[in-house]
Amino acid sequence: MTIKIWDRTQDANWDAIDEYIAGNFLKDDPALEAALEASKKAGLPPIHVAPLQGKLLMLLAMAIGARKILEIGTLGGYSTIWLARALPEDGRLITLDANADYAEVARANITIAGLAGRVEVRVGNALETLPQLETESAGPFDLVFIDADKPSTPQYYDWAVRLSRRGSLIVVDNVVREGAILAAQSDNPHVRGLREFYARAGADPRVSATALQTVGNKGHDGLAIVLVISEP
Ligand code: DHB
Ligand code: MG
Repeated sequence: MTIKIWDRTQDANWDAIDEYIAGNFLKDDPALEAALEASKKAGLPPIHVAPLQGKLLMLLAMAIGARKILEIGTLGGYSTIWLARALPEDGRLITLDANADYAEVARANITIAGLAGRVEVRVGNALETLPQLETESAGPFDLVFIDADKPSTPQYYDWAVRLSRRGSLIVVDNVVREGAILAAQSDNPHVRGLREFYARAGADPRVSATALQTVGNKGHDGLAIVLVISEP
């Protein structure tokens, strides 16, 4: 038996409101549209960030003058393209994904978007590729976006802080999941991973964190925003 812990209150207006906002704030974007089309054609799950959230990621990266960005969870490179657009010509984004097929799709999408010179897609389990980044002294990263398998979110968070500097921003996707995070006794590894992330970030004196609930075409979810406030 599945226990429903939150009624999915999908308001019909959420999509319409997203479209209204997008109509005012987003322009036609052939590269991003092509990325979504190619991702769909390749059979990738349609779990990329929403367009307005992608733009939020870009604006956050621009606001902090990010020159080095790390993304954990590439999928088809949709959020990657948004983030990489915030970078200066000599900026660099490294994005990690465990799935070699997704990475191929992402590389093609990133190339079409004209960002191949700034972006490196690395294939492998992030719990192996993240230590590699440390070995290479690839950091510190100015912004880290965590949007990969949810059970490992606490470990990704640990690595994100470790590869940061004072002033770095860590953004974590899917931190609400229609309220599933309220289920303290859940043995669902996704829920447990997210709750452990909250506990760690909340108790971590090196950071100051908040999270926003979001609604829209991806339902009810949330984004955590974590600022590294001391040298990790
Ligand atoms: C899922 C993963 C995501 O990163 C997301 O934004 C939405 C859904 C998922 O695994 O179901
Ligand atoms: Mg996500």
